[in-house]
Amino acid sequence: MYKTITTAATLAALLTTAAIADELRAPEDVLQGLIDDNESAYLTQSEQNIMMMPDNAALWTAEEGKDLFFEERGPNNKSLETCDLGKGPGVVDGVYVELPRFFEDTGRVMDLESRLAYCMTSIQGFSPEDPEVKRRHGSDSDMMKLQTYIANRSSGLPWNPPMDHPLEQAMRDAGEVLFYRRAGTSDFSCATCHTNTGKRIRASVLPNINEPHEWTKAISWPAYRVGHQQVRSSNHRIRGCYWQMRQPQSIPGSDAAIALMSFWTDAARGEPAILPDKKR
Ligand code: HEC
Repeated sequence: MYKTITTAATLAALLTTAAIADELRAPEDVLQGLIDDNESAYLTQSEQNIMMMPDNAALWTAEEGKDLFFEERGPNNKSLETCDLGKGPGVVDGVYVELPRFFEDTGRVMDLESRLAYCMTSIQGFSPEDPEVKRRHGSDSDMMKLQTYIANRSSGLPWNPPMDHPLEQAMRDAGEVLFYRRAGTSDFSCATCHTNTGKRIRASVLPNINEPHEWTKAISWPAYRVGHQQVRSSNHRIRGCYWQMRQPQSIPGSDAAIALMSFWTDAARGEPAILPDKKR
């Protein structure tokens, strides 16, 4: 009896995974679809980047991440195949568009980066100080490789962060407050630069959070940043924007950073993700 149930459950999980795999779309096709359907100076600002999307160097980073995910590593010599990213142990397809989310085992709302750090320490036995966990930036870091692989397995799916648990709602609401809160020597908030359509800083057209077709590209990280020649994460972008605001740095994995991501993902709800993206 028990066996029949588990087999049926496993089969159902496999079928769901297969159905999701069928819906995945190449990042360049997702972007082109958005451009075809919307007039947007932000989406079309770099013809060169659009042309280079099919050869995005971040696709190599995703490949490297896939190998790392299945490799037995760390003091416990385990792969990440038992890591629960929100849809059950080892499920990668479609998980990223449903993050951040609440996890029972930690009692916290977590983003992809903090959840990966949790799995690498609790399953593989790495210490938080080991470079595998501690290095968060650069295409050659394990963290960026794993994040890019996992995110790529959500390309083309609609952003759909769960809002059932009270903490998921509270984090989203806290993120909204952070987004609109003016502070620092320049009295900037995120909204100062990200609530107008077509607004520029020098050559850069800024995305408007109130235009979901723009905002989905804005939050599509990991992305290869041509100017840095590196794949960058959501946490790296938040750090950059707080630096531009001359406010204290945000800390990856902190409730503040995760709250901002909860809010910004909710703002793109229903729009297809471009993963990995390519940015200036
Ligand atoms: C002083 C203006 C300014 C403020 C304030 C600001 N940003 Fe940005 N933001 C930018 C610029 C400029 C870029 C694009 C960088 C580039 O083109 O290289 C950007 C990029 C982004 C992106 C990615 C879009 C892209 O194409 O690269 C996101 C998401 C984002 N900001 C979120 C935020 C959040 C969240 C805050 C508040 C914590 C914030 N920004 C505050 C200027 C600002």
